[in-house]
Amino acid sequence: MITVPVTDYDSWRAAAIQLLAAGKSPNEIVWQAGLFADLPESGPTTGLTVPRAFIELAKVVALHRDVSRWFVLYRVLYRIVNGERDLLKIDIDDDVRELRLMEKAVSRDMHKMKAFVRFRRIPDSEPEVFVAWYRPDHYITEAVAPWFSRRFGSMRWSILTPDRSAHWDLETLSFGPGVPRSEAPGDDVLEDLWRDYYRSIFNPARVKIKAMRAEMPVRHWATLPETRVIPDLLAQADTRVVQMAKTQKMSALPFIPATRNLGELRAAAPGCRGCDLYERATQIVFGEGPKDAKVVMVGEQPGDEEDVKGHPFIGPAGRLLSKAMHETGLEREKIYVTNAVKHFKWIERGKRRIHAKPSGIEISACRPWLEAELASIEPELVVCLGATAAQSLMGRDFRITTERGKFFPHRWAKELVATIHPSAILRAQDRVEEEYGLFLKDLRIIAARLRELEKAS
Ligand code: URA
Repeated sequence: MITVPVTDYDSWRAAAIQLLAAGKSPNEIVWQAGLFADLPESGPTTGLTVPRAFIELAKVVALHRDVSRWFVLYRVLYRIVNGERDLLKIDIDDDVRELRLMEKAVSRDMHKMKAFVRFRRIPDSEPEVFVAWYRPDHYITEAVAPWFSRRFGSMRWSILTPDRSAHWDLETLSFGPGVPRSEAPGDDVLEDLWRDYYRSIFNPARVKIKAMRAEMPVRHWATLPETRVIPDLLAQADTRVVQMAKTQKMSALPFIPATRNLGELRAAAPGCRGCDLYERATQIVFGEGPKDAKVVMVGEQPGDEEDVKGHPFIGPAGRLLSKAMHETGLEREKIYVTNAVKHFKWIERGKRRIHAKPSGIEISACRPWLEAELASIEPELVVCLGATAAQSLMGRDFRITTERGKFFPHRWAKELVATIHPSAILRAQDRVEEEYGLFLKDLRIIAARLRELEKAS
């Protein structure tokens, strides 16, 4: 028997290469978190190639808490290099199944951590510092931390877990040892804020206790401030439904389920009564495209044709957009396309329905849907088509004329860029060619920037 120390994927990999080269079978090895090494003299390692899929899988499985992971990983690796090259394709194989289950558990844990970490402000900290304590099931803190540094890049924070701590100082992500629950900050201002926020998004008309428990496992309830208000909110549910309708300012928030699942968001959208536009529109037109799109394009609102057929950007402006995308190497099938306002606003002119510009109130009432789409997709780049989209996401002072084609860091994506709306090109009369040329120029810059962002991530 050989005792092999292992702490993480890199140390396992380094040891596994030596053990394979020395011809050691899985049953000869005891994997142990420890400081002593008992590695054999290695033989020649040349010619040892492993499928990329195994490396990707191993990196995720290495984050699982079960100590048997190192053993199973080595056994699968051993079988792969000893003739079973396509082993990972055999889903019913016991070893493969075990790795897949661990992979799934780690991915789910990462998803939960993104949803359930709650930052609290350290009282009187100057500059402000936020801290969260969280207990993940697996060793995922370092793997998830970059996501938090993107999402909460403009605040200084620490995430403390019993295994590791992660720190963000607005520029650099660093890691330290774990911290017990007793050393993490308790209730404070931010916690109250969370409760208020939850209260405001809590929609009693949609209460599904079972789903709530599934998404918010009881294990997490202790660290989630909002869970303490649930019993009260449930008790007042009926009164709240009526009151909400009467008293709330226009907002889609009460109609948006607390989920990042795009399918669930889409399914809830037709029930939105967050402003009055639904009354005259045929239907809500939700965004469309891949749920993991790298680019989200945001228009103003659906037009007449979109309203009738229920899909965004399929009318004249949409066709022009597709043509321009095609000419600049942006693939529409890979892009998520949506609008700042999800219902068609129109006025009657004879037999025709003419587009009417949405008001500031309607744009901000609908913004929570757009934000929910962006939080779910986590794109690299948001492209705003026209002033309505840009002002919805960048504030009312944003001017396309001066800021067009510039890239801004953004809360909902790595960067945001704005250009003109394709319908402005169609309206440009004798300058259509010229405007279209400028639009193509913007899209080419956007396509190039996207390649850079993808390379960097
Ligand atoms: N204009 C938009 O802004 N969005 C659409 O979906 C169609 C036209």
